[in-house]
Amino acid sequence: MPTTCVGHPETAARIQESPFVPRGTPPDPFTLVLFGATGDLAGRKLFSALHQLFLGQHLPQEFAIVGVGRRDTPDEKFRAGIQDKLGATSASEESAKTNRFLSHVYFQRADVTNADGMKRLAERVHALERERKLPDNRLFYLATDPEFFLPIVEGIAGVGLICRDEHRCWARVVIEKPFGFDLASALELDRNLQRFLRPDQIYRIDHYLGKETVQNLLAFRFGNAIFEPLFNREHVDQVQITVAETVGMEGRRGAFYDHAGALRDVVQNHMLQLLALVAMDPPATLKAGDISDAKLKVFRNLAPIRGAQVDRNVVRGQYGPGLMEGKQMRGYRSEEAVDPSSNTETHVALRATIESWRWAGVPFFLRTGKRLPRRVTELAVQFKLPPMHLFRTVECVGDFCDLSEAKPSVLAFRIQPDEGISLSFAAKRPGMQLDLNPVNFKFDYRDSFPIHLPEAYERLILDALRGDGTLFMRSDEMEAAWEFVTPILEAWRDSPPPPFPNYDAGTWGPDEADRLLDERFGGWRLISP
Ligand code: BG6
Repeated sequence: MPTTCVGHPETAARIQESPFVPRGTPPDPFTLVLFGATGDLAGRKLFSALHQLFLGQHLPQEFAIVGVGRRDTPDEKFRAGIQDKLGATSASEESAKTNRFLSHVYFQRADVTNADGMKRLAERVHALERERKLPDNRLFYLATDPEFFLPIVEGIAGVGLICRDEHRCWARVVIEKPFGFDLASALELDRNLQRFLRPDQIYRIDHYLGKETVQNLLAFRFGNAIFEPLFNREHVDQVQITVAETVGMEGRRGAFYDHAGALRDVVQNHMLQLLALVAMDPPATLKAGDISDAKLKVFRNLAPIRGAQVDRNVVRGQYGPGLMEGKQMRGYRSEEAVDPSSNTETHVALRATIESWRWAGVPFFLRTGKRLPRRVTELAVQFKLPPMHLFRTVECVGDFCDLSEAKPSVLAFRIQPDEGISLSFAAKRPGMQLDLNPVNFKFDYRDSFPIHLPEAYERLILDALRGDGTLFMRSDEMEAAWEFVTPILEAWRDSPPPPFPNYDAGTWGPDEADRLLDERFGGWRLISP
């Protein structure tokens, strides 16, 4: 349905230009070359996102997807593997559509570090484009180990797969995380990529930005007039951001994770992006450049944590064995593909501060970890208490009430699962006394919008195909995030690690994480089921 704009014509024009207004028309015909096509991410997320886009008629009539991997696999076998993973239903209409989708998918074996392999890949792409009458529009998706990012881009440039005639065709490269290992390596990778690509051809993906509920943070803050005036040091006491996961090192995840750790894997990207979205000033418009500018300002204002400050503001943990839902879990060091004496952190808790007019003095507490009791991503903005206590606060179980400390109001954004927003506040408890009791307003995403919530990767792949970089990380954002994280990594490198393991699987992390929030801040939020 076309979007109707009301109000001032200039406002209407601005809304129509906004990247968040669906264009309706599918992208131009294209070839998507997916490196790492037999890997975990492609199998779990990327093919299913492309399949959904096809079912939702977001893809053009003509397109080709060429999966690239190291082992020779006939197209038919590769398609059968994808079909299995899609778990396509046998309902005849749906399976006919899935078969049509799969008829666009091909496989090409290539060793990306080998010139001959890249030449054969180029020949295959050209042949498919001729067969399907496709223009030279190409999206290259790099879902491989990071060490291959540069060789791949060098390779595709070397065999002429990158279109150089902007008026006739386009070439874009989506790069998965981790983008670099620290600030220096990220800068070097960026510099090297830009020998072959213009900055606007590089799409650094952070799948958190594709999540509906993350985008809703922007909508909530800047689409309503009532809460935004409260988002500042006058009213906010603290912000807590939690990315808790129950998973450990399933499959051979440990092979990657043991060289990364929680700070690089989740804090540098997903969590700092969430922090930027909750803390940023209103962007001038919703265009890519303006949103990135607003986020960058937050990153630039993050107070550095370095040297001796690291121990006071950052706590790292690693899980040992423990019980989860009655099942005995092994400790991190016994996981497959993990070094048995590994000092990699699987949990991080930190206190960040933003030195800006809006946020000076307000702590932002971040925590993330594997093998925690619940899978939850949540941002909680905790407001200040009233300046004086006129009322008593009680907490009651049935009729039995006990006096308790006054409870602050909290605005909590639940990113996943149970997507929604809740506001807790104090209400009078019925009875002869004037006692306060904490209660909740709750908005549940799925109750209010009982429609298909697109997966993050659906949204982001479609945006890349359309050439819309709004929800991708600009290089200066990515660098600023590394600038914050790198001194912490350096301090850890230069000091002995804590006695790992220091938390049991199935618990909320090391006890030391609690000391980041002294009495004044009341502890980490209890995450409700
Ligand atoms: C990935 C990390 O980027 O995000 C994983 O590499 C993590 O370690 C995952 O599990 C979490 O994503 P989500 O969407 O499940 O919250």
